[in-house]
Amino acid sequence: MSDLPAFGPGRHLLSVQQFDTSSLRSFFDLTDAVRPIAERHSICTVLDGAILGSLFFEPSTRTRLSFESAFLRLGGEVTSTTGFSFSSMAKGESLHDTARVVSGYSDVLVMRHPDEGSVSEFAAASLVPVINAGDGTGEHPSQALLDVYTLRHELDTRGRTVDGSTVAIIGDLKYGRTVHSLMKLLSLAATGITFKVYSPPSLELPIEVADYAQARGHAVHVVNDVIEAVSGSDAVYATRVQRERITEEVLANANVRGNLLNKEILARAGATGIIIMHPLPRDSRKNSFDLSDDVDDLPGLSIFHQTDNGLMIRMAIFLTTLGCSIGQVQACMKQRPWDATLR
Ligand code: NCD
Repeated sequence: MSDLPAFGPGRHLLSVQQFDTSSLRSFFDLTDAVRPIAERHSICTVLDGAILGSLFFEPSTRTRLSFESAFLRLGGEVTSTTGFSFSSMAKGESLHDTARVVSGYSDVLVMRHPDEGSVSEFAAASLVPVINAGDGTGEHPSQALLDVYTLRHELDTRGRTVDGSTVAIIGDLKYGRTVHSLMKLLSLAATGITFKVYSPPSLELPIEVADYAQARGHAVHVVNDVIEAVSGSDAVYATRVQRERITEEVLANANVRGNLLNKEILARAGATGIIIMHPLPRDSRKNSFDLSDDVDDLPGLSIFHQTDNGLMIRMAIFLTTLGCSIGQVQACMKQRPWDATLR
């Protein structure tokens, strides 16, 4: 564990380092327990009367909507603000003052911000728990939780385990915060992983992330191309070039064109059955150097399983920080009176 306290009732969630193997197992049990609510078999009112403050100062679609939907599906209510221009930060208000003010209006806060460390600074002044929904190139703990949950499930359905698996991590590994959190959480949660990492020049994995994995007994192999990364691997985790964080000079040096990963590359590597993951959004523009849409009919495509699982993971985050047990959730669950099959 890091200096941060273990994630639990009344605690902020700022880093994946707030978990260990045993707390992650309990957290995933809670996640499994809310599946009927996420899948609309049951409705739940366990968070009746609770208010979520949702603050997103960077673009987001799935993270914001899944956090907000998770809270609503547990019976709570949501208030939100998006973008600097519509908040008092545009008038020069500090993170400290904003945190002190908005935490007086909510029971829990979710925040995304472009600067690394900003969510921790904000949390220090908050009266209520704060969930980090991405702080610059720093961390994205809820994404890593849903990624590890999905990977574990996908391997399990194929009769394999995360322990001893080989995972290719490819793309922009420097500025992609999801990779930093994922590699750390996998390193904490499993044993004997082989990471095969590939990135274009100038977008390499920070050394401290590789060190973190190696210090916990995992192998990190830096490879020269995507074919080498995916061949023989159980899963591949592809990431987008984080163009919004990169200077023109870095981008020119990275020399990124075409597809990062497509069907032809997988076929050449003999890896068309590999589990394919991506935090999304996938950059589907031409020459974006991302995961091609042509892999969508392959059997290992798991990108939408990740997004579906994100809802349950975020429910479990709220339940944990607000101190609700599986028993309390189940006591507040009832059959939905409306027809979900009409969806
Ligand atoms: C990621 C992020 O914001 O870090 N998106 C997400 O939350 N699923 C990945 C990205 O933007 O590339």
